[in-house]
Amino acid sequence: MASKKNYILAIESSCDDTSAAVLCNTKVLSNVVATQEIHKQYGGVVPELASRAHQQNIVPVVHQALAKANIDKKQLSAIAFTRGPGLMGSLLVGTSFAKSLALGLDIPLIEVNHMEAHILAHFIEDESMTAPRFPFLGMTISGGHTQIVKVNDYFNMEVLGETLDDAVGEAFDKSAKLMGLPYPGGPLVDKHAKEGNPNAYPFPKPKVHGLNFSFSGLKTSILYFLQRETQKDPDFVATNIKDICASVQHTILEILMDKLKLAVKQTGIKQVAIGGGVAANSGIRARLKEAEETMGWTTYIPKFSYCTDNAGMIGIVGYLKFLEGKFTDQKVAAKARYAIGS
Ligand code: KG4
Ligand code: ZN
Repeated sequence: MASKKNYILAIESSCDDTSAAVLCNTKVLSNVVATQEIHKQYGGVVPELASRAHQQNIVPVVHQALAKANIDKKQLSAIAFTRGPGLMGSLLVGTSFAKSLALGLDIPLIEVNHMEAHILAHFIEDESMTAPRFPFLGMTISGGHTQIVKVNDYFNMEVLGETLDDAVGEAFDKSAKLMGLPYPGGPLVDKHAKEGNPNAYPFPKPKVHGLNFSFSGLKTSILYFLQRETQKDPDFVATNIKDICASVQHTILEILMDKLKLAVKQTGIKQVAIGGGVAANSGIRARLKEAEETMGWTTYIPKFSYCTDNAGMIGIVGYLKFLEGKFTDQKVAAKARYAIGS
């Protein structure tokens, strides 16, 4: 890696977090995230409100990122931004901002695929993290994504499988909503699950071919189960919340681990790196640790702030592309659907 100090400003606005980061080569100097609280009252992300909030947040967030890093914008070497995938209105805010700033400062512009960034977040230099060696399997699990990717090199990735409907984070959040828990319910399911019996209520696992996932059937079976039980006992959820959460989480983790095991079997690769908000789940972390002992895997989980949507992960991809001179033309447009490797 180059010894020269290159400063990259990165911008992320694909969903409901407005984020800016400044990196000095592979090190994150600042990583500011403004989470949009407004969506809580609607129980999910409202796209129009998200883009308006990005417009309000982007300038102060970028200012804060530069101030925290103690870097003047004149010192910047390039600007990296999330081109997609994501919500079109949200992506447009970050894309237009990055383009104008790069043009104004007359420095290179670098587009980043958000999904590749979730995977390459493992290469941020941080004392709490070890970078995986190539090739490895990357599993991105969040409110917007569920994918297993074979990572041959920084810019050589193959998607082996992905969800055909809901993302795994949505499965957590929608199940939580059915139990009357507030949005986003994933962390609350995790919390209750710690004190519950994972085998109290068996839920069916979907039969999906190969390495693809499906979570919409699970949500429906939880809905019918809760309707049936609350008809018999109106207090069923309140009385049994710990066991219900533990059982739901157990089923979701079984689905994830079954597919990971199959991916390891099919590829022969035992290096597994996860990312995305659901990587914070205590159950998945425990399962991966267990797999290290029982199946000889080496597993990697980034620091939580690099798991959820953040500009630090956009910045590391920006830096890696900067080294290779992979710059983007000012004609670039945001891309709501943007497959890895396309
Ligand atoms: O990566 P992220 O912040 O944003 C998206 O790109 O979606 O992920 C948010 C998702 C939400 O669905 C949230 O419920 C889930 O991550 N999540 C969790 C936990 N912490 C966050 N799910 C289960 N257990 C957790 N501890
Ligand atoms: Zn994401």
